[in-house]
Parts: sequence; structure tokens; C-alpha cells
Amino acid sequence: MKRFAKLLTAFAGLVVSGSAFAAGGHALPYSYTPDTSNLASLQRGARDFMAYCSGCHSMKYLRYNRIGQDLGIPDDVLKSSLMFTSDKPGDMILSSMPAEASKAWFGQTPPDLTLETRARGADWVYSYLRTFYVDAKRPLGVNNLVLPNASMPHVLWALQGWQVKLDEHAEPSDHGEGGHADGGGEHHGVPLKLVQPGSLTPDQYEKFVGDLVNFMAYAAEPGKSIRTGVGPKAMFYLLILLTLCYFLKKEFWRDIKH
Ligand code: HEC
Repeated sequence: MKRFAKLLTAFAGLVVSGSAFAAGGHALPYSYTPDTSNLASLQRGARDFMAYCSGCHSMKYLRYNRIGQDLGIPDDVLKSSLMFTSDKPGDMILSSMPAEASKAWFGQTPPDLTLETRARGADWVYSYLRTFYVDAKRPLGVNNLVLPNASMPHVLWALQGWQVKLDEHAEPSDHGEGGHADGGGEHHGVPLKLVQPGSLTPDQYEKFVGDLVNFMAYAAEPGKSIRTGVGPKAMFYLLILLTLCYFLKKEFWRDIKH
């Protein structure tokens, strides 16, 4: 019985955390629709994920050579540009950080990200990566709009720069009383302001994060583009089969009719 109660609490926790935004009446600040047929974007995303994220996060349900095959990356490029934690293309993507150490450093073990876009949704991950802001109250001096008190550092700060959170009371969209007339349009109601630019412009950073999330969406469902590619071929095959069957039927019945 105790076990059942535990399970129930865990389940309730999941439901609550999943719908926290809906319940709070807050929409996610940004949205992003992955396009896993865009190979160039996936390649950029894979490269950037390995460079900026794989130090802490694993993608342990995905193998390097699977990425190579699916994204058209030759083995030598795979080895030189993507594989930092292993030299066997058949290996899973593990992080280079021991789980124990990262727990001690960040207070949290960085979770595996293979299925992250399925668990949280692409919009959430996209918003997460764009809404880090300076917060002196946090141990690392940084907080996040969609994951409050996140213990991940803003690893992309050199690219994005630093944002600060605007005073909530000054934010018209929070109160929804016809606030759209007085400013706010500049940041589309997202209460963050870039105060120190990074090496990328906001537009470039948006695209950079988009590629990353696109790659993560691919990683969560690597068979998807193949599956959608197989569909039309299967239909074509069935059409030919149907035509053949039709003529075969005609052939069989010809002698019977006459
Ligand atoms: C220095 C280590 C480190 C690096 C590098 C890092 N992360 Fe994290 N990440 C963390 C930690 C620690 C957490 C746990 C945060 C928490 O739950 O408070 C986390 C959490 C996350 C989450 C939220 C997981 C969830 O559902 O709660 C996402 C998404 C994420 N990281 C994506 C990325 C991406 C994408 C990159 C590369 C651009 C990256 N991280 C680089 C340490 C890191």
C-alpha cells in the first residue's frame, strides 16, 4: 500500500510539473517547430551539441555512427569534429563528466538529453536555452525563466551575452490590461533584456539555439525522417502492385467470359 501511495505521489508530481505552465496561466516565451528533414541544420546542431553540451550531458540512447549515417557525416569528420568522449563510432554518446562530481559541483546531475524534447517539448527546450538571466541570488549568478532556480550555468553566455530580468510590475503583459500599447513589443512580452551582447546577434543566437533543438528533436526520434521517407515509397510500391493485380485479374477472367 505504501508503495502504491509513493507511486501515486510520483505520478502526481509528474502531472503537476508538466502542467505547471498551463496552470500558472503562463505560455512559454518562445516556440520552435523542429524540421528534422533539414540536414544542414541538424549537422550544425550536432556539432554544437558536442561542443557545448556533451561535456555535461549524455545522449546515451544514440550512437555516433547513427548520427553519421542519418546526417550524412563521413567517419573522419565524425571523429575529428564530433567525438570528444570516445573514438569508437559504434559507441553511445556519453558525457565526459562523472555523475558524482557533477552532482557535487552543480547540486544536480545533468540529465541525459536523448529524449529531452519528447519529455519537455521542443518549445520548452528552445525557451529554456534562450531565457537564462543574471541573478545574484543564485550560486552561479544565473537563473532561468522556464526552469526557475536551474542549477545549469549559462553555458552559451559568450554567444548570447547576458540578459537581466525586468521588473515584473513594469511588465504590461503580466497584467493583461490592454498593455500592448505601451512598449513591451521589443521583447514580445518576455520580461528579459539583453544588457551585454555576446558574440552572436540576437537573430544569430536564435538560429543557433534552433539548430540545437532541431538536433535534439532528431535525437529523440532518429527514425522519424526515415519513417516519413519510407511512406511515399511504400505507397508507390502498392500502386504498382495494384496495377499488376488489375491486369492479372483481367488475364484470368478473359477465358471465363468468352
Ligand atoms: C557545465 C555543465 C553543463 C553544460 C555544459 C550544459 N548543461 Fe544542461 N544542465 C546542467 C545541469 C547541472 C542541469 C540540471 C539543472 C537543474 O535541474 O536544475 C542541466 C539541465 C539541462 C536541461 C533541463 C533538463 C530538464 O528537463 O530539467 C536542458 C534542456 C539542458 N540542460 C540542455 C543543455 C544544452 C542544450 C546544453 C548545451 C548548449 C547544456 N545543457 C550544457 C549542466 C550543464
